[in-house]
Amino acid sequence: MRINRYIAGSGLCSRRKADELIKNGNVKVNGAVLREPGYDVKEGDRVTVNGTDLMEQEEMVYYLLNKPTGYVTTAKDEQDRATVMDLVPDISERVFPVGRLDMNTSGALILTNDGKAAYRLTHPKTQVFKTYRALVSGIISKEKIWKLRNGIDIGGYVTRPAIVTIVSENKNSTLLEISISEGKNRQVRKMCKAVGNPVQELTRISIGEIRLGRLKEGTFRKLTKAEIDYIKNC
Ligand code: URA
Repeated sequence: MRINRYIAGSGLCSRRKADELIKNGNVKVNGAVLREPGYDVKEGDRVTVNGTDLMEQEEMVYYLLNKPTGYVTTAKDEQDRATVMDLVPDISERVFPVGRLDMNTSGALILTNDGKAAYRLTHPKTQVFKTYRALVSGIISKEKIWKLRNGIDIGGYVTRPAIVTIVSENKNSTLLEISISEGKNRQVRKMCKAVGNPVQELTRISIGEIRLGRLKEGTFRKLTKAEIDYIKNC
């Protein structure tokens, strides 16, 4: 396999970037700097890029966790609280959570060791809609729904258009489904509070096309091939 394809296939960078790395003398084959951009990698060749051995690179893995409430979304907590990593002791790769759910929010959380995919998924320019079920206090009027959909001030910031529907209601509370394409700190809670209906319970049910479905709280599963393709191309 041609060297630029081999490097790109490791997930390290694109083929064009690989060509650049070769040109700049950053690539070694069997310990010697590669000067031949069209080199065909043979079985047993040791290819290193800036000192990283491509054979030793960790395989990229992608999981979906159904986070229960009571866990912080971080790899390590300074206050020694339970973290989402405590829920995945069987994952041997060095995964980390993509984005954040509040301690009191449950639901869909992606864990991966693919830094590039994580960056894309959480970048404000990537418009992946995340969908939440929010149980809020009280009844929500049509005007309030309109405000939630069209943008509401959550303290110096007006939210982007959102998809908001009422799933069910009774005289004391309303269950809303809210899809937002951004992830300001405690955004859904702030949006609901801004219309006077504080959140009682919050669950994220999907991240773009990745749905929680019947995944049990506190458990995780591997993403399917289609889901991995989706997050690599979003
Ligand atoms: N919005 C919130 O308010 N909390 C979350 O955890 C996620 C979105």
